[in-house]
Amino acid sequence: MSQPAYGSAPRSAAGGAALSADELAEELNRVFAEEIEAAMRYLHLANAVRGLDRLTVEPILKRGFSETIQHAEVIAQKIRALGHVPRVELQIACPGEPVTARESLRIALTFEEAALEAYQDLLRRVEGDVPMEEFIRSQIALESAHVAELKELLVG
Ligand SMILES: [Fe+2]
Repeated sequence: MSQPAYGSAPRSAAGGAALSADELAEELNRVFAEEIEAAMRYLHLANAVRGLDRLTVEPILKRGFSETIQHAEVIAQKIRALGHVPRVELQIACPGEPVTARESLRIALTFEEAALEAYQDLLRRVEGDVPMEEFIRSQIALESAHVAELKELLVG
């Protein structure tokens, strides 16, 4: 599907070509998949923690699940605004093994950091598209807060 270039600024300050609507939708599809994958991992972790450990981390993991699903919905809305239908290709396997509270937070930190990295990468690619830059920046702030919260819980 071919569409006119996205936005009115054809070039970024760095001199790179602005992304077309198709390219931007493709980039957003990638973070959409990243968020859905993270949500599935949170859902799995919330059910892989056993015993008393559940009391400590189950609420955190469940909150991570719902917040991540909300992020995916916002990204899907951005994809729709570009005239596309979100596309998802997932490669995810969650083992049927129990994890401790600490392990679950360490695993969550890994995929939250991956999501943060994906947004930071996307921010560089949308340079010059101010509304999209602002949106990505707000997502980066949210993801950074998640990462900081997990790191704080993992101290000691
Ligand atoms: Fe997220």
